[in-house]
Amino acid sequence: MKKAIYPGSFDPVTFGHLDMIVRSAKIVDELVVGVLNNSAKNSLFSVQERVNMLEELTKDIPHVKVDSFDGLLVDYMRECGATIIVRGLRAVTDFEYELQIAQTNHVEYPEVETIFLTTNLKYSYLSSSVVREFAAYGGDISKFVPAQFIDRIYAKYNIKK
Ligand code: PNS
Repeated sequence: MKKAIYPGSFDPVTFGHLDMIVRSAKIVDELVVGVLNNSAKNSLFSVQERVNMLEELTKDIPHVKVDSFDGLLVDYMRECGATIIVRGLRAVTDFEYELQIAQTNHVEYPEVETIFLTTNLKYSYLSSSVVREFAAYGGDISKFVPAQFIDRIYAKYNIKK
């Protein structure tokens, strides 16, 4: 039974994340989308809002569940019995950071392997911070995030469209 976690901030979830979830769910037995509950980080959406959005988005994808975690990812993985971390690589700029995290996690919990999927070319420019930046100035985010979340994102900036 290969249980994997796709961890992230998902603030907010994008089409790039959704693509990663759909593709990685096909290669593991169970995929947990793990939302980091990082109290130090000033997030746009609360953890519960992010979990709710991800649940809405993944409800029809088999073997996928959504959860949140505090603290170290490897501690959460020990608790929930996951041994695979899934991460997306957009460009070479992601590599250094991802390599360091993957190696650290492996040292801390040797049973853990990180697998990287190259992101879909269509979304290789996309990140949650790009979405937040565009939304903050009332820019068009319809190519970045699923339609049902657009109003919720603008609402965070008091923008009515
Ligand atoms: O979507 P993000 O913000 O790039 O995701 C980063 C995330 C959540 C995967 C990473 O920050 C993480 O795993 N944080 C939990 C704390 C932890 O385990 N840190 C150790 C990394 S060396």
